[in-house]
Amino acid sequence: MQAQIGIHALGLAIPRRYVDMEALARARGVEPAKYTQGLGAREMAVAEPGEDTVALAALAARRALAASGIDRERLGLLIVGTETGVDHSKPVASFVHGLLGLPQAMRVYDTQHACYGGTAGVMAAVEWIASGAADGRVALVICADIARYGLRTPGEPTQGAGAVALVIANDPALLAIDVGVSGAASSHVHDFWRPLGRREAQVDGHYSVQCYLDAVSTAYRGWRRRAIDRGLIAATGGLASERLARLCYHVPFCRMARKAHVQVRRCDLEDAGAPWEAEVEDAAALVAHGVQVEPSLGLCARIGNIYTGSLYLGLAGLLDAQAGSLVGQRIGLFSYGSGCTSEFFSGVVAPDAAAQIAAANIAEILAARERITIPEYERIMVLPPTAPLVPWPSNASDAGDFRFVGVSNHQRQYAGR
Ligand code: COA
Repeated sequence: MQAQIGIHALGLAIPRRYVDMEALARARGVEPAKYTQGLGAREMAVAEPGEDTVALAALAARRALAASGIDRERLGLLIVGTETGVDHSKPVASFVHGLLGLPQAMRVYDTQHACYGGTAGVMAAVEWIASGAADGRVALVICADIARYGLRTPGEPTQGAGAVALVIANDPALLAIDVGVSGAASSHVHDFWRPLGRREAQVDGHYSVQCYLDAVSTAYRGWRRRAIDRGLIAATGGLASERLARLCYHVPFCRMARKAHVQVRRCDLEDAGAPWEAEVEDAAALVAHGVQVEPSLGLCARIGNIYTGSLYLGLAGLLDAQAGSLVGQRIGLFSYGSGCTSEFFSGVVAPDAAAQIAAANIAEILAARERITIPEYERIMVLPPTAPLVPWPSNASDAGDFRFVGVSNHQRQYAGR
């Protein structure tokens, strides 16, 4: 039997400040239900200049390595998926490699394609191990980003920031990925982009929703065909998507996951020759969404969009909430990067998943945050990227943090503690 490969351990890093979405809605003169129900957001992470992509990535990586129990000398590959890097040439991965003092004898680079960059890294790592090139070594893949659309823009309530680091290894303790069973979809579209030199993304939000739904249809159908061919799911007897215990989607805002799930069910129904009756299906999709998708949205609703890490934030939240009852069950994952490229893949929850996800201390990391007012959030959002830093807070939960502290001789400087 082929060895299993997948996500062995996970580490999460988020900014220490957040805003409440009802407060943001009131400040913008918007009905709070639009943000909380229409977009599905409860809270939104706010990164200050010291909490840049490198600082978040390094902290998540340190936590993932600590949770993994794996000797760092076994690392052979470090990939950072990001669309908010800090240099046109030097990758975020290189900074992380130095900050964590990782072994010299390893491959280190970034991957970029909007929010898909992290999954590009996961796939490269899984296939590196499956090919035999890893030669017993393990990979560290970090998804790290700061999502900024700007104050008082339609995208404002869908910002966020954070990093999820994943240790990819043989015999994984969290999720064994179905290697070689995936579907991809790509198109050259301008739904979201960020011209060189700009901190804020350009987005045609409603068009992006359409691009996402178009992509999930093609990617899901590709996965479904291969999953049936390999005997992972049965070809007949109900909707194929219902054979998946849970589905985690890329979540630019939580409500997007529901739209995606309705679309996946529509693919199943129409491909089976059944008519698509919107009203009937809406009710069925609501029930299916509640069971199969909603459990993965808890963390996303409290942090916001973290671009490359968004899918894995959903996975982390799902496993934190339900790993014990999902052991041995298959879940679907859909990664979407605007521009666009995307991939639908799947994996099986490992027997040790509950114990392993507990090592990520997710509840503790969330509880350590500080809620800030809307004026304070607005003050932070307009700070230049090299703004003077506020002092380290004195609370012990910051042990192990990294911070960007300025530029010297054109070189970015970081402090750690
Ligand atoms: N109560 C409940 N729901 C409400 C509401 C209220 N008072 N007012 C509006 N809503 C609902 C709308 O019906 C809509 O839901 P639906 O899409 O299911 O119909 C939702 O809230 C959003 O309203 P909408 O008018 O579409 O919002 P908007 O025009 O301000 O823009 C986005 C919303 C998501 C398009 C915008 O925030 C955006 O562009 N975000 C960036 C998205 C992104 O990152 N894309 C790229 C990566 S995939």
